[in-house]
Amino acid sequence: MASNKDKHPRTAGSQEFWRQLWKIISPSHKQIKFLLVLIVVFRLIQLATPYILKLIIDKLSHFNPEQVIPLLLLIALLFLSEQSASLVSYFKDRKTFRILVEAEYYLPLRVQEKLVNLSLDYHEKENTGNKITKIERGIFRIVELLANMAFEVVPTLIQLAVTLVALAVLDWRIGLSFAFFSPLFIVITYKVNRELYPIRKNRFKQHEESSGKMGQSIININTVKSFSQEEREAKEYGGIKERVRNWEMSEWFKLLNWNLGRNLIIDLGRVTVLLLSAYLVWQGQVSIGSLVFAVTLSEKSYFSLYRLSRFYDKMEEGAEAVNRFVDIINEEPSIKNPEDGYKPKKIRGEIEFKGVDFSYEGLRNKDKFKALRQVNLQIDPSSVTALVGPSGGGKTTIAKIIYRHYDPQKGGIFLDGIDLRNYDLYALRRSIAIVPQEVEIFNLDVKQNIAYSKPDASWDEVREAARVANAEEFINNLPHGYKTLVGERGMKLSGGQRQRIGIARAVLANPSILIFDEATSNLDSYSEKLIQSSMEKIGQDRTMIIIAHRLSTIQKADKIIVVEEGGVVEQGSHQELARNGGGLYRKLLDLQKTGNVD
Ligand SMILES: Nc1ncnc2c1ncn2[C@@H]1O[C@H](COP(=O)(O)OP(=O)(O)OP(=O)(O)O)[C@@H](O)[C@H]1O
Ligand SMILES: [Mg+2]
Repeated sequence: MASNKDKHPRTAGSQEFWRQLWKIISPSHKQIKFLLVLIVVFRLIQLATPYILKLIIDKLSHFNPEQVIPLLLLIALLFLSEQSASLVSYFKDRKTFRILVEAEYYLPLRVQEKLVNLSLDYHEKENTGNKITKIERGIFRIVELLANMAFEVVPTLIQLAVTLVALAVLDWRIGLSFAFFSPLFIVITYKVNRELYPIRKNRFKQHEESSGKMGQSIININTVKSFSQEEREAKEYGGIKERVRNWEMSEWFKLLNWNLGRNLIIDLGRVTVLLLSAYLVWQGQVSIGSLVFAVTLSEKSYFSLYRLSRFYDKMEEGAEAVNRFVDIINEEPSIKNPEDGYKPKKIRGEIEFKGVDFSYEGLRNKDKFKALRQVNLQIDPSSVTALVGPSGGGKTTIAKIIYRHYDPQKGGIFLDGIDLRNYDLYALRRSIAIVPQEVEIFNLDVKQNIAYSKPDASWDEVREAARVANAEEFINNLPHGYKTLVGERGMKLSGGQRQRIGIARAVLANPSILIFDEATSNLDSYSEKLIQSSMEKIGQDRTMIIIAHRLSTIQKADKIIVVEEGGVVEQGSHQELARNGGGLYRKLLDLQKTGNVD
């Protein structure tokens, strides 16, 4: 895919770039078309001024008293045309600002919606700092690009076309000189930027990397400090930034070198028009007025051309940032919600894995490590099932796959006999709640954190959920009770407190299937017991899956499934498995009882 992109770089001079950009600013299409009309009208009116000036000069060069009235009329006309240009310009600018401000409004909304809807695998491969940089720079650049287009590029292009026609009508030789030099200039500008494309692309990549690096060191600040790695973080960040600086420097110097050539072309063009006009006046083929007209128009145009090239450089500079933004918008969630997916009223909660193979790497690396291989298992409705086994065995993966965070590459998972892929994704996820190994906490108050799963929950419901999770006591001891802000990622809470908020949140969701992934691992045995007994009560008519390392907590489970290296190695009740002398469960059990390894 990458090589394909490099073959057709999406520079500001490529069709693909504009096609993609046009697509993401779809809400502005109508306004932009209208703006174009305004710009054309504006430029045409603007052309009238130098033309009227030419008429005035021509009249003055053969001045006689009878021509005072027409002269005055011409001057009045000049004033009128300037004023109408200013009026049209006013409306044009209003329209432009409307488009810009609206883009600044809807682009962040679009990308935010996109990001939260993308599947987990996307978020796992892109780090937060990178994503935020991409978005911020992207939006900034798109708005800048639109502004440049509206204020500079399009008006100048129209001006060039109009100038060319006007000069050609005046005298074909002058027109021809203009038609020769200005495209030459444009071609060179295009070539320069094509040459700079890979350098820019690299600079952007490094820039994102530096933001990612900065984000990582701040997110993991605790670890950085505990191991006194501040200096190393600064050094690594500095290293990336240094590369950015070098790339950027070489980019600008290259551009400046080319500018010498571009200036030469413009000056040649201007001199040619002057020489030609002077010659034609000398030969008596054009009037002084026409000379002034030709020189004014071409000077203006060459000057704009130069400015245009500067804007083009800038657009190319921004193009890569725009591309990166566009790529996010175009990213498709890997987990697709089927159209007309099945939305059951009630889920019984029977889960079956049939020959499930799954690798985080996706299908591309088939031979690579598989997180799950040939998993077959059956979880009965309204039962308690425990998943146990060595760390890294695949227990969390099984939980995530039931949630449909990922789809298996082979085999299928069936809920109440229907493949998960046939369910409406949101209906499916509403019927399942998970207390993850690492509970994610928002920087909100305790109540809002619990009620995240059910924003309209009443106070009573929230308190009840907190009670089930054995969280009530500690919450009441917080400085502001349920209204206490818990800090980013819940930093102001202990690990066990975060877990209990996670449990309360899941309980409040009132799902048909409840999954606990090491949900009580940070709790003391007493709190754990309390939670277990209240869970037994609420677990009456729902399917519960409990992932646990402490085997004492799952002995009452209806079924225990032992997972090792991505496969199911044993299953049965505690008694059955404990009896199997050679089994892994028995081994783990003995180990936990005695602490001896063998
Ligand atoms: N997002 C991911 N991307 C790539 N590989 C992953 C990802 N998550 C887990 N893995 C890998 O998949 C394997 C199974 O991981 P999983 O988290 O399911 O183990 P686990 O049984 O839950 O372990 P633990 O008891 O330590 O929580 C591990 O080898 C792990 O390295
Ligand atoms: Mg796990």
